[in-house]
Amino acid sequence: MCGIVGYLGARDPKEVILKGLKTLEYRGYDSSGVSILNKGKFKRVRAQGKLSQLCEKLQNEDFDGHLGIGHTRWATHGKPSERNAHPHQLNHVNIVHNGIIENYAEIKEKLIKNGSQFESETDSELVAHLIEREMNFNASLLNATINIIPGLRGAYSVLAVSEKTPDQCVAFKNGPPLLIGLGEDEIIVASDIQAIISYTKKIIYLEDDEIALISPGKVEIYNFKGQRIEKSPVTVNWDASQIEKQGYPHYMLKEIFEQPRAVAQAIDPHIDLSTRKINLSGVGFNVDNFEGPEALDLKNDLLNTNEILQTIERVFIVACGTSYYAGMLGEYLIERAAEVPVEIDLASEFRYRYPVIPKNSLLIVVSQSGETADTLAALRQAKKQGALTLSICNVPRSSIDREAHGHLYMNAGVEIGVASTKAFVSSLALMNILSLSLAKAKGLLNEDLEKKCVDEIVAAPSLMEGVLAYDKFFAQAADDLKKKRGFLYLGRGVSYPIALEGALKLKELAYMHAEGYASGEMKHGPLALIDETMAIIVLCPKDELYEKTISNLEEAKARGGMIISIGTGDDERLKSISDHYLSLPETAWYVNPLLEVIPLQLLAYYVAKSLGNDVDQPRNLAKSVTVE
Ligand code: AGP
Repeated sequence: MCGIVGYLGARDPKEVILKGLKTLEYRGYDSSGVSILNKGKFKRVRAQGKLSQLCEKLQNEDFDGHLGIGHTRWATHGKPSERNAHPHQLNHVNIVHNGIIENYAEIKEKLIKNGSQFESETDSELVAHLIEREMNFNASLLNATINIIPGLRGAYSVLAVSEKTPDQCVAFKNGPPLLIGLGEDEIIVASDIQAIISYTKKIIYLEDDEIALISPGKVEIYNFKGQRIEKSPVTVNWDASQIEKQGYPHYMLKEIFEQPRAVAQAIDPHIDLSTRKINLSGVGFNVDNFEGPEALDLKNDLLNTNEILQTIERVFIVACGTSYYAGMLGEYLIERAAEVPVEIDLASEFRYRYPVIPKNSLLIVVSQSGETADTLAALRQAKKQGALTLSICNVPRSSIDREAHGHLYMNAGVEIGVASTKAFVSSLALMNILSLSLAKAKGLLNEDLEKKCVDEIVAAPSLMEGVLAYDKFFAQAADDLKKKRGFLYLGRGVSYPIALEGALKLKELAYMHAEGYASGEMKHGPLALIDETMAIIVLCPKDELYEKTISNLEEAKARGGMIISIGTGDDERLKSISDHYLSLPETAWYVNPLLEVIPLQLLAYYVAKSLGNDVDQPRNLAKSVTVE
């Protein structure tokens, strides 16, 4: 939701904080601000709008101190404005906050009764008030924090500084991520590794219920009760070059073009090229802390992934947005390959619908960020109900990754564009690996079939390279497409989730009306939408549903819509009923979705670009949705 950066060290805090906020702008971009020590006082500068507004304001500002905090905001409580921008300041205390303080109304009321005056409409400001009040009673910054935490409800991560302790910063969290980078003569705290990685690779991941007291060259970790915890940093292997645009005009286009590599990296740990076999190595189901001993027949000696998969009788897949559509593909693949019943749910629905989770269930959560609040809550809910859980994340050590019993990694590399692209194709590839592994564990995948499937999956990245050439087509077609009144994306079977994803991409980026439909549903209502002002994007691979999709398309064609079809090879029949026909190379039905989504991403990208929209940071959105 929001991005936080804190700096204590020898460099100019303004430079480090602004550079860090730039890498975190994807998390929120309606206002931003910094508080940096200058002549013993925190000088606060805030601006509404994009980070560039803040940079402009800070151009001629100098600071002589070495401690500062900064924030980029995505509004939850209180509209986007300078007044509501962070840091929040009360006398000597400054804080930045990511998340939501759920009981803010009651705390605020009490504080107002006691004479406090609030400057903003946010839930965050009260943290500054609470800390300041404690410090006025002579508590240290650390003790003030320990004292106020029991009164806070909700999900939050906070950085707090005070002029009374000009060489200290306190970081604490219960929910959204906070990482602490340990450099030579400096310490950087941030919501995401991207803000830290160009200074150091030594990272402490703050866990929930932990407080970090940061002072020159030293980080002490305490639990919320104030007891000291020993914690060592880990060394990460991410590279700073991954977070640069490398010549592309936008991160999104760069990430679209990185997709073949993302898929190759996702499948690499799970395919043995010499034997042409699939494995789920690295999943590392940790059932030591399994909370549902009654619900799953796991014996102590049954820790082998394959044996665990054999016990699975039902699969739940839970996610949000694009990750949910990847999960939908998982439903088609797992049911068909492994003959295990699958339920797919939106995390925001799952957590409140009192799901029945039978014995021997596996719950798979898919999340690029690994921090999505609803998905995390669904995971916790399923664990409580006794499910074995498996996360598919792109960000290692994210909250979801850490809390699940088993782990698969998208390995897509840093994804910065708010609209997810490469993490999606990596998830699709992992759904293939997972369904085949389950099928194998169930004795439903013979050796020959396994080899054939491996060959098809391994060939996917190079086929995807070829499909990227549609870049030029959409760069040209965008000017016409942007004049359409609306878009319908049609697909059946495994192409249906891709149609939904195509529509989501266009909505997110072009702010145009777009809907994804299962083609067979057209005559049950949406056909009424079609006239010559509509564009119909149809996914029509040469699979067992081909004839049916063609008749659905004829129905649409008869109503005058402009048709862009995406099919297999040289399909004259499809070509003849389409205004534009885009041919994809022949591949297996389960790999085809990886190819189909590329033209849809390019369409959304170029239409948005042609409309002059901010492609990497579409309005009203944030990359990581860490609140409900
Ligand atoms: C994707 O383009 C969206 N920005 C959004 O739907 C996203 O997929 C969703 O918020 C889930 O995020 P996650 O994968 O990080 O959990």
